[in-house]
Amino acid sequence: METVDRKREPAVLPSPIGQRRGGMVKGNGGNFRRSTFLGVLVFLATYTAFYLSSGLFELETRSVSVPFDAESILAKCRSLHIKPGPAANFHSRSQSDRFQPGTEALLIRNATIWTGERNGKEVFHGDAFLDSGLIKAIGNVPREILAARDDILVVEADGAWLTPGIVDVHSHLGGSSPNLRGSDDGNSWKGPITPWLRILDALNTHDLGYENSMSGGVTTSLIIPGSLNAIGGQGLAMKLRPTKERSPTSMLLEPYLGFNGTDYSGEVGRHWGHMKHACGENPKSYGDTRMDSVWLTRQAYDSARTIKVAQDDYCEKALSGDWGSLRTQKFPESLQWQSLIDVLRGKIKVQTHCYEAVDLDNFVRLSNEFQFEVAAFHHAHEAWLVPDVLKRAYGKKPPALAMFSTFARYKREAYLHSEFAPRVLADGGFDVVMKSDHSAIPSRNLLAEAAIAHYWGLADNLALLSVTGTPARILGLDHRVGFIREGYDADIVLWDSHPLSLGATPLQVIIDGIPQIADPHTVPKPIAHQRPPSTPNWDRETADALKYNGLPPLEPTNHRNLVVFTNVSSFWSYSSAAENFTDQFAEHIPAGSEQGGTVVVQDGDVVCLARDPSCNEHFARPGVEIINLKGGAIQPGLIAYGTGLGLTEISMEASTSDGFVNDPLEGQPSLFGAGGYVAKAVDGLQFGTRDALLAYRAGVTVSVSSPSHQSWLSGLSTAFSLGSAHKLERGAIVNDIAAVHISLSHGDSTLSVSTKIAAMRRLLTKEVGGEVGEWFKKVANGTLPLVVNVGSADIIATLVSLKREVEAKAGVALRLTIAGATEAHLIADELAKANVGVIVTPTRPYPYTWDERRTLPGPPLSADSLIGYLIKSGVTVGVGPHGVMAVGHPGAQEMANSRARNLRFDVGEAMLDAGPDALGKGGAFALATVNLAKLLGLEYDRGLHDLVATVGGDLLDYEGKVIAVISPRRETVDVF
Ligand SMILES: *[C@@H]1O[C@H](CO)[C@@H](O)[C@H](O)[C@H]1NC(C)=O
Ligand SMILES: *[C@@H]1O[C@H](CO)[C@@H](O)[C@H](O)[C@H]1NC(C)=O
Ligand SMILES: *[C@@H]1O[C@H](CO)[C@@H](O)[C@H](O)[C@H]1NC(C)=O
Repeated sequence: METVDRKREPAVLPSPIGQRRGGMVKGNGGNFRRSTFLGVLVFLATYTAFYLSSGLFELETRSVSVPFDAESILAKCRSLHIKPGPAANFHSRSQSDRFQPGTEALLIRNATIWTGERNGKEVFHGDAFLDSGLIKAIGNVPREILAARDDILVVEADGAWLTPGIVDVHSHLGGSSPNLRGSDDGNSWKGPITPWLRILDALNTHDLGYENSMSGGVTTSLIIPGSLNAIGGQGLAMKLRPTKERSPTSMLLEPYLGFNGTDYSGEVGRHWGHMKHACGENPKSYGDTRMDSVWLTRQAYDSARTIKVAQDDYCEKALSGDWGSLRTQKFPESLQWQSLIDVLRGKIKVQTHCYEAVDLDNFVRLSNEFQFEVAAFHHAHEAWLVPDVLKRAYGKKPPALAMFSTFARYKREAYLHSEFAPRVLADGGFDVVMKSDHSAIPSRNLLAEAAIAHYWGLADNLALLSVTGTPARILGLDHRVGFIREGYDADIVLWDSHPLSLGATPLQVIIDGIPQIADPHTVPKPIAHQRPPSTPNWDRETADALKYNGLPPLEPTNHRNLVVFTNVSSFWSYSSAAENFTDQFAEHIPAGSEQGGTVVVQDGDVVCLARDPSCNEHFARPGVEIINLKGGAIQPGLIAYGTGLGLTEISMEASTSDGFVNDPLEGQPSLFGAGGYVAKAVDGLQFGTRDALLAYRAGVTVSVSSPSHQSWLSGLSTAFSLGSAHKLERGAIVNDIAAVHISLSHGDSTLSVSTKIAAMRRLLTKEVGGEVGEWFKKVANGTLPLVVNVGSADIIATLVSLKREVEAKAGVALRLTIAGATEAHLIADELAKANVGVIVTPTRPYPYTWDERRTLPGPPLSADSLIGYLIKSGVTVGVGPHGVMAVGHPGAQEMANSRARNLRFDVGEAMLDAGPDALGKGGAFALATVNLAKLLGLEYDRGLHDLVATVGGDLLDYEGKVIAVISPRRETVDVF
């Protein structure tokens, strides 16, 4: 409605102040009076016409100046109350706003479609037709739809699972991989309160993570600033596909500020915005305590609220035509506080990093004080313990919880996390979301987070929803992504197995109707993987976790001397005589009866298999414990390498840790003289840490840990039992010294890699006195292996040259092992020739650093997995648990502690990724047992060869539950 004749502006608004863009007529003295006087003359007619036509007011004659920009002010006022969300006609769209011209229509035939409907319980067989960037039809696609297009690409799914694309609510893609100084833009260092910042301004389009994440089926991610600021800034939703424009803007999905995004026009508010908050420890980087952070947050919201109230007052008057009382004011606004005002107006969703009860409680109080809803608490490690706090949050629905499955205890705030938290929260009616915090967990593995939550009790429908429909809803995007529905964005994934099965891998990932993998590689999966795994019952453990406020006792207290395992479906025995490691573990099915076989263990030794009739006599012995494995397995206990298990309880708390060694190249205490010292991990061991016990209860019976270090030299590793109570217990220490460990990576210290190589050359070829010299002498003469954490193929090649050089001089074989080994495939043949084995960590490589940028990602991006390729090349391969950063980087190992318990799944996944011919189960066990022992200089004998009994399935799947550990070394069976 035209109310102002803009052409007359100069005439009616002579005051320079009055002419300010977007301002009201403002001024003082005669100036003001003059404009009022002129204003009456000029505007009275239109003003009267407007309010008459609006029918809201009776005509009255009064002296009022209507500002020249009244129209835009009124539009702005009306827009204050527009709620974000799709336009009313959104679902009648015939083409996606993200449609890329030239995209072919796609018909996926004969898929098993999980739609996300009916609370994630709907599954049907049928077809899906994608066109114009949208899902046009599912089920039986009408012929007339197909007839309308003559260029349809047909994909035969052969019954494969089809799901919506994975949605990640917490990602730091777009800057971090490889981690370079120039792309470190995730947090502001200017202060704790920065709601005006936008992560879009930092989004690096060259991150190697986009493709990596997409290859795990991730199609949409919320990218948010880091958590060092109490209010960190605005996030963005994006799709993980390259665009023709190659710009950050073109990757956006429903951007809050539109695509130009610098002013707040009437359009703003149609799409949801996202504000990153952080509670607790992380914002302390600015020297703020919790009390400071909460105050600063309140202060910020108070500033926003003050402006919001002023806007509302102003608009109430403007909308009622009371321009007279507004004549000295302009529309109250602030570019700086606008985003928080929009939080208060319910236009921007609050995504807050909050761990502990105290922080959740604080934030809930804030939400009520300022009356804003919390979309999700991220990390939320203690949320499962304080459901009533969550329910008290402002708004109709409690916040969702965006969590990790088992990654925890790395700091105090995460100490009370439970693997049962997702299930407990879901049982309590809360929205459960699994998130990656990419690259803390590479989001390629986000679906596995949901699968692991499912393993620990989260129902399968909710587990799948936790990475699709639920996060889509939390992001306010469930009108177009997160479900397979007609009219939704054509973001779908076709899987090689049921998405909650171990190692589920996309056959193809489609975003906006565009297949993202040009040449997808697949490996066949076992038939059993086409259905969701039938996971163990954890009711007792879940109840215990709650009963003990998150700290249920984990120590094995139930030691037995004589145990009879019945209904054993497989028993894996080890033979050192086999020609190759694949055959070192042989599976015996001790099928003594229809009930499966029987295995009798006395004092930690297997004394009888069911085929031997003498087994029966054991049943009647006094004190015997009989355990029915219900078709489960007895298999080797796994060995963890590459973690800080036994050296730290909470990796970011120095008071719980052994601490770091001093590097001899960068100065050691003078007490040790020029020859320096080499630390022994065995001297720093702590037993009974929660991560050690949780790993033990997941079938990892021994850890080989080396001293924590910040630079080159780590020290001497030790092999010890994770189930022992203390060092002096029988069998607690397996080998007090295993190997000498160092790390080599570019940029980890001021010393060059070549300086460190020079030091090694000297230590390995010359007489160097002191402790450092002595231990390297043992390496040079082949007594001890040298284990080098390194990712770069170039550094690995240098090490191979150095090995030759040393061997030529000394005449004995140098036992060199490469750990980390991300780029090892580039020189696999040379490693095999040089007899250098590798310990691959993580099992699915990720380009964290420049040294690791040349990954062999495995299916679907490459035919070979790194592990499969190395094995094929004749390299001896071991594996270690996933860390959260480059393994070659000193200090990284401690972060892997809580994930040592997932080693069994890593090994199982590595076996599947490598393909059915590469390893087999025996070969897979070898990766984390005999091979690892060999590579770390340990004898894989009775001392190391624990056995683990699982109920239901085995260690390498999502079905087996560890129920006992059989240890010849400790002469006992621990029953859980
Ligand atoms: C659909 O796929 C399944 C599994 O491969 C197959 O048995 C069936 O014959 C297929 N149906 C059609 C109509 O192609
Ligand atoms: C962004 O601004 C440009 C230049 O003013 C305009 O042409 C374009 O339509 C705007 N785009 C959107 C999506 O608003
Ligand atoms: C391992 O050795 C066995 C014979 O002991 C042989 O049959 C098998 O093919 C070998 N496997 C590999 C992977 O070389």
